[in-house]
Amino acid sequence: MTRALPLPEGVAPLELLAIARTVALEAAALIVDERPGDLGVAETKSSRTDVVTVMDQASQDLLSRRIAELRPDDGFAGEERGGRPGSTGITWVVDPIDGTVNYLYGLAAYAVSVAAVVGDPGRPGAWRPVAGVVVNPVSGEIFAAAAGHGATRGEGGIARPLRVAGAGSLDLALCATGFGYGARRRAWQGAVLAEVLPQVRDIRRLGSAALDLCRVADGTVDAYYERGLNPWDLAAGWLVATEAGALVTDLAGDDPDESMLVAGGPRVHGELRAALTRAVDGVGPED
Ligand code: IPD
Repeated sequence: MTRALPLPEGVAPLELLAIARTVALEAAALIVDERPGDLGVAETKSSRTDVVTVMDQASQDLLSRRIAELRPDDGFAGEERGGRPGSTGITWVVDPIDGTVNYLYGLAAYAVSVAAVVGDPGRPGAWRPVAGVVVNPVSGEIFAAAAGHGATRGEGGIARPLRVAGAGSLDLALCATGFGYGARRRAWQGAVLAEVLPQVRDIRRLGSAALDLCRVADGTVDAYYERGLNPWDLAAGWLVATEAGALVTDLAGDDPDESMLVAGGPRVHGELRAALTRAVDGVGPED
């Protein structure tokens, strides 16, 4: 089961949360206000469908600069280039635009994700978010959580506490998932999905892992699973979901990592984890 990591001395999750909210809102405004009519594809990563836009880099540069101003000794790691080590035990893990393909196409399901984490985000199982904010600049939703202080969804200046939905069983669960960018991974994910689909109410592929986790937290989906996520995709949403009462693990019940993330209220989480384990055993390894 997931375990707590000690906070470095003098670190207050609510103070980190305030910083996360400030910088995430600034980046969210930037990606909307300065979105070019014709988005340039600055570079490609694992395949041509993994679009890295100029705005991804601009958003990350803003987050990096502002966090360096506000917490100069912390580490910084993001999806794009430009990380740095720190000396405080806190690292900021950011996704400057999660849901890049939605952003490219103008679909309103993308977000800026900012988390402060303890431990080493480069080592699976060795880190934990302590403050996190996910901002959808189009809907205006601000999902926020600090370790031990619960999770909220803010809209129009009002923040409401979040509580995960209590879907009774997997067959009644609306389940979100996502797919990687590489063809081989997608083929494996498709085979696993074919096993899971008959066992759930329905499937949603919304296109932003950070928002998928926040939707588990606010009960607009009952569960979410995905293989292949990186720390920046999941760091803030992981905390929002767990602070709202969800369980977020890998298939073995340990911390979520690249191998799998499974999120949901306690009963659905257990049933989905079991269903995925059977599916993965049946489908076999990815290669
Ligand atoms: C992606 C999104 C997507 C998920 C992919 C992620 P990006 O992040 O979160 O929903 O299915 O696995 O890579 O590339 O838009 O930051």
